[in-house]
Amino acid sequence: MAENLKDCSVPCKMSWEELEALCRRERLHCKELGVNRANANEYEVEFLCDYKKSKEEEFYLVKWRGFPESDNTWEPKRNLRCPKLMKQFHLDLDQELRRHKRRCIPKKLDKELTSVLIQKAKLRQCLQRWEAHLNHTRNHPGRIFVMNEVDLEGPPKNFTYINNYKVGQGIVLDEMAVGCECKNCLDEPVNGCCPGASFHRMAYNNRGQVRIRAGQPIYECNSRCNCGLDCPNRVVQKGIQFDLCIFKTENGRGWGVRTLQHIKKNTFVMEYVGEIITTDEAERRGHIYDRQGSTYLFDLDYVEDVYTVDAAHLGNISHFVNHSCNPNLQVFNVFIDNIDERLPRIALFSTRAIRAGEELTFDYKMQMQHVSIFQVWISLE
Ligand SMILES: C[S@@+](CC[C@H](N)C(=O)[O-])C[C@H]1O[C@@H](n2cnc3c(N)ncnc32)[C@H](O)[C@@H]1O
Ligand SMILES: [Zn+2]
Ligand SMILES: [Zn+2]
Ligand SMILES: [Zn+2]
Repeated sequence: MAENLKDCSVPCKMSWEELEALCRRERLHCKELGVNRANANEYEVEFLCDYKKSKEEEFYLVKWRGFPESDNTWEPKRNLRCPKLMKQFHLDLDQELRRHKRRCIPKKLDKELTSVLIQKAKLRQCLQRWEAHLNHTRNHPGRIFVMNEVDLEGPPKNFTYINNYKVGQGIVLDEMAVGCECKNCLDEPVNGCCPGASFHRMAYNNRGQVRIRAGQPIYECNSRCNCGLDCPNRVVQKGIQFDLCIFKTENGRGWGVRTLQHIKKNTFVMEYVGEIITTDEAERRGHIYDRQGSTYLFDLDYVEDVYTVDAAHLGNISHFVNHSCNPNLQVFNVFIDNIDERLPRIALFSTRAIRAGEELTFDYKMQMQHVSIFQVWISLE
């Protein structure tokens, strides 16, 4: 029995940082946690909570990593070596003072102000942890950043990041039966390569940009094709390539997504991923989402309206992309390892060049359910 337990493991409920703090408190050394004889007695500033100026000397109230807030101490500025945290503290402080139309930093901050600054610091930590989790979960090259400079809302509850469709109960994805025989799919397609098998055109040019009209399907090469992973007819399957940022919008549209890199016209940006459910089930869930005032239901109606993608609780970064009537992304139906035309993958491609920093949007009206509530949003645009 005891030997069997040797291979057992249980996940640790403490974070890396909590373990490190515990180690320091108990005066233990640990190679994996980076706590050794030389640095065991160093204290790390977790965040700054308050500020005061007394006799021309500046002080900060420090929250120490691994210690409760009751152990916070006032430290003179000259003793602190945390320029990034200090800069962030002053950015937050300036923003709050400006909000209250106050120009200079007072010698002592009032309680209300410090409470907001502490909440902001904690929110930032919480968003950083979520960001790290999202990046740990993603399987695509593009990184995910998270930012909220607008209010004190933290990560959404009840949302799990997934990379591919999750199939709901009773739904089966058929494996693509045939692949192509080409050596060079773009320049010497055999029988029209994979798109040719269903009398469609090759969707991409040699730079991976989509060149067919919206509404036409994309048939990419698949696991049974003769070509390699560098085939130009494999784009969506390579996943998100750009660094994107989930940010809190300033005009009440909740979270949104902006690109941190320049995106050329007709370029694949992301897939709309979620749970595939039947349209009947979507109808049922739709009423609940309507009451909550938001929708994440995307109807797969390429040939017939049988299935819907629900990205409310399971989804990728597309969960956060907002609607616009003048969008910079458009939807394409994509088939890769699945031949069931009722179950296309949904890929979002740029409609024009998009500058780094621009918000990404698509027009929900075509596919998203319960669009009546969009009338309200459209007036917000
Ligand atoms: C797919 S989600 C987009 C992400 C969402 N903003 C969030 O915070 O999770 C769709 C929801 O976002 C909001 N939304 C999207 N586009 C909007 C717009 N143009 N104006 C106002 N709200 C919008 C609506 O609440 C909608 O139900
Ligand atoms: Zn081919
Ligand atoms: Zn192929
Ligand atoms: Zn190919």
